[in-house]
Amino acid sequence: MALKTINPTSTKAWSKLQAHFKTIENTHLKDLFTQHENRASEMTIQWEDFYFDYSKHRVSKETLNLLLELADEVDLKDAMHQYFGGEVINATEGREVLHTALRSPKDAEVIVDGENVIPEVYQVKEKIKDFSDKVCNGTFKSYTDQPFTDVVNIGIGGSDLGPAMVVEALSFYSNHLKTHFVSNVDGDHVNEVVKNINPETTLFVIVSKTFTTQETLSNANTIREWFLKHAPETAISKHFVAVSTNIEKVKDFGIDENNIFPMWNWVGGRFSLWSAVGLSISLAVGFDNFESLLNGAHKMDEHFKTEAFEKNIPVITALLSVWYNNFFNAETEAIIPYSQYLNQFATYLQQGIMESNGKSVDRNGDKINYQTGTIIWGEPGTNSQHAFFQLIHQGTKLIPADFIGFTESLHGNKDHQDKLMSSFFAQTEALMNGKSNDTVVEELKDSSISEAHMKFLAPFKIFDGNKPTTTILIKKLTPESLGKLIAMYEHKIFVQGIIWNIFSYDQFGVELGKQLANTILKELKDPNVINNHDDSTQNLIKYYQSKA
Ligand code: F6P
Repeated sequence: MALKTINPTSTKAWSKLQAHFKTIENTHLKDLFTQHENRASEMTIQWEDFYFDYSKHRVSKETLNLLLELADEVDLKDAMHQYFGGEVINATEGREVLHTALRSPKDAEVIVDGENVIPEVYQVKEKIKDFSDKVCNGTFKSYTDQPFTDVVNIGIGGSDLGPAMVVEALSFYSNHLKTHFVSNVDGDHVNEVVKNINPETTLFVIVSKTFTTQETLSNANTIREWFLKHAPETAISKHFVAVSTNIEKVKDFGIDENNIFPMWNWVGGRFSLWSAVGLSISLAVGFDNFESLLNGAHKMDEHFKTEAFEKNIPVITALLSVWYNNFFNAETEAIIPYSQYLNQFATYLQQGIMESNGKSVDRNGDKINYQTGTIIWGEPGTNSQHAFFQLIHQGTKLIPADFIGFTESLHGNKDHQDKLMSSFFAQTEALMNGKSNDTVVEELKDSSISEAHMKFLAPFKIFDGNKPTTTILIKKLTPESLGKLIAMYEHKIFVQGIIWNIFSYDQFGVELGKQLANTILKELKDPNVINNHDDSTQNLIKYYQSKA
């Protein structure tokens, strides 16, 4: 079985959406609320501890029906069966896409190459549990017989962003271990980290699915050299563990076979935090919390798999994104979590979303003539309010935004929480309603300025409003609710890839730069090596060599 190759723009629903767009593009959100009684509650999905309100979007019931028709016409249902069923939907790499299997229950059956992979998934989970329990409770000791105090995760991309985001997001639940992340090949990164750790009590987790990634191997080698300045060779087996599919390469690096946590090719790097790639998470917050994260994701998988599309959170969020991307021509989407713990959430999603759906060739191999992957960015509120919100409110660009908030805080300081959430609600209200000329004039009348100055000022103080937002209100930031939230975006990626008729699970776009860097590196290391470059690149290399 293969994914269907339906060009979305050739569907009936697409033509209808184009015609419908003309009738709604200038309608203000305020009018949509007036026209549609009970809009707020009808456009809210309450599921488990999630309150998902999409009523502040520039859609009518008809828009939604047409978007749902589009999902049907591209046969999203069939694609979902293939996704969860372990078909080779990553056709360009010849792989299944089964991060969902990593959070499936023990009695589930997911067949890959004729074998149920679930028992193996649970074996690795057992190994993660056993190891993290022993490190956390101090029974797995360092070469100087001390309990570990620090963990350094060495990886990049999917082998870094997921664990780094989750470890920070769940820091409220963390234990005594301090977790550090080294990813950039910029030597300053690794040097800053080793400045703050004690080799006698630090555990190094090298994470690389392929174990060929230049950045990770360079950082791992630098750390090993640094470590061996303080410790004997025999200490390596106590301080270095690895997560990889490439067992031979890990062994060549000198890591003890018992210290290898395997993963599988059917898990994409950017979807791998649920596998042993999440070892640093399990170490930081304990295995039980890691398991709750997985359980949360599994609950979202079930919701996505079984819920009717009109009440299906990942489906609705994906369809809305297609609506803005392909009809309003909005190029970017903002993710604004009102939680400092989710500081790295947008950065993490950038890889998931942009590496997956940043494609311009369709599943037939043809160049695409419509827009695909959106640009994702964002920062936590309220900091972002004092940084880029001006542009969202009064700039010329349409930027749909996801507002993610929690009804209960973790710190328990009600005053701070009320202030935080009043800003949250105020922003989505302001973005939707704006501020009219009449209100502005009314407000200015109360000040003591002249009539002429009032006329001058008024236009600058008007807010058009009509800026769309989704509100995702969750009870509390817990490992489980975080798992649900991440899985929601993973499925959004999938749905959009299906609609845009692209392959979401390869990432050939990151290869060319790597290839050229290898060629240039040879030149930088040896000036006698000469390669052909364009004049600009040639000059830059020469300039660098003259200064370095
Ligand atoms: O950036 C490209 C990429 O292949 C990502 O998809 C992946 O997450 C990252 O590099 C790291 O790869 P690895 O885990 O194999 O070191």
